[in-house]
Amino acid sequence: IGVDRFGQPAPWPALRTIAAHEGLFLMDDCAQSFGGALSGRKLGREATATTLSFFPSKPLGAYGDGGAILTDDPDRAELYRSLRTHGEGRTRYEVLRTGMNGRLDTLQAAVLLAKLEGFDAELARREAIARAYDAGLAGHVAIPARVPDSASAWAVYAVLTEDTRAREALQARLQGHGVPSAIYYPRPLHLQPAYQPHHDGARLPVAEDLASRILALPIHPELTDGEVARVIAAVQGQG
Ligand SMILES: Cc1ncc(COP(=O)(O)O)c(C=O)c1O
Repeated sequence: IGVDRFGQPAPWPALRTIAAHEGLFLMDDCAQSFGGALSGRKLGREATATTLSFFPSKPLGAYGDGGAILTDDPDRAELYRSLRTHGEGRTRYEVLRTGMNGRLDTLQAAVLLAKLEGFDAELARREAIARAYDAGLAGHVAIPARVPDSASAWAVYAVLTEDTRAREALQARLQGHGVPSAIYYPRPLHLQPAYQPHHDGARLPVAEDLASRILALPIHPELTDGEVARVIAAVQGQG
């Protein structure tokens, strides 16, 4: 599973090479990045199947939970449709496998259809905010590196401070200015209890270091230019 984290694409050409070499099925976790692109192509076709999340905080957010799977593979499409509805087969009361209730409810679908109409404009607004942050914050914190030849959906705009203490100070300063911030993510996967049985205990110093310094700033299409300027001033330590 390749994850298009924070809005930017995973390294898909390399992942496809590895998957082909190892005979692995490749899936794209596009929960944060629907609307993003790589080499001029919208994300959604990089792997055999692509998963989307419509959780409200995602770039295309519903008013409650929801998601979708994209695939061009007819066998996989049939499998996912079956899994979505309790493993059903050709008729509702033929159960082929252990499935789940993964239906997207109609109200959320209606919200999503309406929001899709303004989605491109929202993506453009997110990009404009990210550029304003880049220009205003460079030199104060480390701004996000961009994947070359890509477009981000900017689900998250995360900066890096020098160390954990600097992050604490920045978060406190932002709070003092009424600016929310969040640590995405405080604990890397290899340190999650759920993965301990599968982990040999090796340290992953890069992931651990990033988790100790990362901080996400507000980014969503409704932010006004004035609010963006306030966030920038707060990070800069002005005002
Ligand atoms: C990268 C990524 N994958 C998967 C998920 C899960 O999405 P959902 O909660 O809609 O199942 C999320 C959302 O939290 C996410 O950010």
